Amino acid sequence: MESIVQQINAYRQEIEALELVTPDQLETYRIKFLGTKGIVKALFGEMRNIPAEQKREFGQVLNDFKQFAEAKYESAKETTDSDQPQAAAIDLSLPGDPIVAGTRHPINLVRRRIIDIFHRLGFAVADGPEIEDDWHNFTALNLPEHHPARDMQDTFYIAQNPDWLLRTHTSNVQVREMEKGKLPIRVICPGRVYRNETISARAHCFFHQVEGLYIDEHVSFADLKQTLYFFVQELFGKDVKVRFRPSYFPFTEPSAEMDISCLICGGSGCRVCKQTGWVEILGCGMVHPKVLESCGIDSNKYTGFAFGMGIERITMLLYGINDLRLFSENDVRFLRQFTAAT
Ligand code: DAH
Repeated sequence: MESIVQQINAYRQEIEALELVTPDQLETYRIKFLGTKGIVKALFGEMRNIPAEQKREFGQVLNDFKQFAEAKYESAKETTDSDQPQAAAIDLSLPGDPIVAGTRHPINLVRRRIIDIFHRLGFAVADGPEIEDDWHNFTALNLPEHHPARDMQDTFYIAQNPDWLLRTHTSNVQVREMEKGKLPIRVICPGRVYRNETISARAHCFFHQVEGLYIDEHVSFADLKQTLYFFVQELFGKDVKVRFRPSYFPFTEPSAEMDISCLICGGSGCRVCKQTGWVEILGCGMVHPKVLESCGIDSNKYTGFAFGMGIERITMLLYGINDLRLFSENDVRFLRQFTAAT
């Protein structure tokens, strides 16, 4: 034991004489004396060679030495130039952290393009509530209670008040604009609508529409067709063909649905257009005189046209997206792909 104690005293002198100024010196000291393979640890390992009756005394010597070595380290650490390690850690040549810019949602991109096209034709944007009453969503649009056409739209009703519902289409804004009594009217209304549908690749319980309404003296079906031709050519390109099919909506007479030639196959027939070469993109018609009268507009003096389209459907056609659910899942791998509509 004698010789080890002598050795320890020699270490003490060595430590006392050491000058620890730089972080490097401090670290070298720590590794030599206090590290897992350091001297203090090794000395503790000698314990098993010490005779049992001397273990206690040796243990004390060891602990004193350990505390001494640690104290030297702690006090040197405080005085070591604290700016140095930080200064060394900053490497100005490293590239910075990238700032990740978000992308616009595809529905938003297409909504903006649609608004922009109708702006150029003089249409202003009108807004309306998503929680609506029965009058604005149905009755004023010539869907009186028990009208079979109400079955076309599975409606979410608000529990507290049977007169309230989540609007099933943006056509409620037609009514609200007409009720204001300021003519002529030339508006489009983009917005979210709700239907009690089972969620699948082709249907969702909420989606987005753009409604259009133009009311003035002498507005004709030819105006409607020309407006929609212009819209389609601006959005889909000059080569796209258009056709109108007679249809039925309670709020328009006559009513039509508009198809465009399939963007995927160019009209020759594919899975997207179900081999017909055509895809439906909107409903439209001349505003029914009953609707004009319900909203306080003289149907002998004024006529108008209206149309409504689903933004999701158009976005799916523009980008070749085949599942409606992708729009609301917020998967960034999907969302990051959209920068501008093609
Ligand atoms: N409201 C119809 C729907 O949700 C779309 C629509 C069709 C709107 C014809 C119109 C219109 O204004 O004239 O299916």
